[in-house]
Amino acid sequence: MYPLTAGIVVQTKELWDELHANLQDLPVRVVLEQSEIGQLSVLLEKIDRMRPEVMFVDISGLREPLDQVIRGMRSTAAAPFVLTLNTVAGTDVILNAMRAGAAEYLYPPFGDALRAALERIGNERRNTTQAVRRGGHTLGFMSAKGGCGATTIACHTAVELPAQSKGKVLLADLDFDAGMVGFLLKTKSPYSISDAVRNTQRLDESYWKALVSNGISGLEIISAPLPASRLALKPEQLRFVLSFVRTQYDWIVLDLGRSLSPSSTPAIEEVDDLFLVTTMEVPALHQAKLIVQKLLDSGYGKNRLHLLLNRAPKRFDVTLEELESMLGAPVYTSIPSDYLALNESYSEGKLLGRGSGLGKHFTRLAMSIVGVSDPKKKFSMFG
Ligand SMILES: Nc1ncnc2c1ncn2[C@@H]1O[C@H](COP(=O)(O)OP(=O)(O)OP(=O)(O)O)[C@@H](O)[C@H]1O
Ligand SMILES: [Mg+2]
Repeated sequence: MYPLTAGIVVQTKELWDELHANLQDLPVRVVLEQSEIGQLSVLLEKIDRMRPEVMFVDISGLREPLDQVIRGMRSTAAAPFVLTLNTVAGTDVILNAMRAGAAEYLYPPFGDALRAALERIGNERRNTTQAVRRGGHTLGFMSAKGGCGATTIACHTAVELPAQSKGKVLLADLDFDAGMVGFLLKTKSPYSISDAVRNTQRLDESYWKALVSNGISGLEIISAPLPASRLALKPEQLRFVLSFVRTQYDWIVLDLGRSLSPSSTPAIEEVDDLFLVTTMEVPALHQAKLIVQKLLDSGYGKNRLHLLLNRAPKRFDVTLEELESMLGAPVYTSIPSDYLALNESYSEGKLLGRGSGLGKHFTRLAMSIVGVSDPKKKFSMFG
C-alpha cells in the first residue's frame, strides 16, 4: 500500500481505539491529532502546515455543520481526503457525509473497509505524485554478488557528497543480512533503521534525529538492524520511512546489500539512481545480468539503472559496448582495485583518504553523481 500521512480529529473513545488499532498495521503516519475541531480556522491552518493526505473526522457528536468542516479541509493546500467516522451506520447520515464531500464513511468494526479506502486513496496519491517526486535524491548501491564492493562504494561516496553537493546527506544501511556501515564509519547510535520502520506513527523530524549518528559534518548515518530485530520489518513501512527521509535530506545513499532481497526490493522503488556494483569476474557478471533483466522485466526504468565496475583491471578484454550489450544496462564508470590501501585504512578504523589513488576515484564518482543530470559526463572516467 502507498504510504500516507494523516490527521485525526476523534473524540469518541470507541472510535479512537478502533482507529488506532487498525492504523497500527498500516503505513500511515499521523502528523496531526486532536480530540475536537475546536476553532475551525485554527485547525485548517494546522492542516495547511502539516499537510496530511487523509483526515479522519469523528462526526458522531460534531457541533459544526459537516459540509463546512469538509469543504474547509478540502480547500486547504493539503486538500486531504476526509474519512468520516461514526459509531453507527445510517442511510441518511451516510448520504449527508458523502454529499458534503467525504471520501468515506466508516463505522466499527472498520476492518477491511478502512484498509480498502486507504488503498484507493493511496493509489490516487501515487498517480498524482509520481511525476513530481519531491525532496532529496536517493541513490542505491547494490552488490551483484556478495563482496563486489557495494558497501565500500556507498560509504566513500556518502562521505564525499556533503562537500561536493553542499547538501545534507543521509547514509542508510539497508543490508539486513550483513550491515557493515555502522562498523566502517564507527557510528555511536544504538538505534537502527528498524526503529524507524517499527514506529512509523511516531516518525517526525525529532524522532528521526534521535535515531541517526552524526559524527561527520553534513552526513548522518542510520545503521542496519541487529539480527534480533530484523524479523518484523514490513516492506510498506520501509518504503514509508524512505519516503519520509527524502523530505529531510538532499541526498540519500542506501547500501542495499547483495542482490535482490526482501528488504532491497521494496527499497528500490524509492531509489532514483540504482548503482549495481559488479566486478569483472564471470559469476558476478552473470548475477549482474540476471538482476538487470529482472528489474527491467518488472518495469524498472532503464534510465535509473547504472552498472559500476569495481576492482576493474587496467585493461578490459571486451569493449564498453560489448559489456553493456551483454549486461543489458549502461556502465556508469569503473573503479580500480587497491586492496592493500583499503585494507590498511579499514584496519586503522578509517575510510580511504581523498588524496590516495583509489580515494580520488571515489571523489570523482561523487562529483559525477552530483552532476548526474548531464549524461555526457557518465563515461568520462571509463577506461
Ligand atoms: N576497489 C577495490 N579494490 C580492492 N578491494 C576492494 C575494492 N572495493 C572493495 N574492496 C574489498 O572487497 C571486500 C568486499 O567489499 P564490500 O564489503 O564493500 O563489498 P559488498 O559488496 O558490500 O559485500 P557484501 O556482499 O558482503 O555486502 C572488502 O574487503 C573491500 O575492502
Ligand atoms: Mg556490503
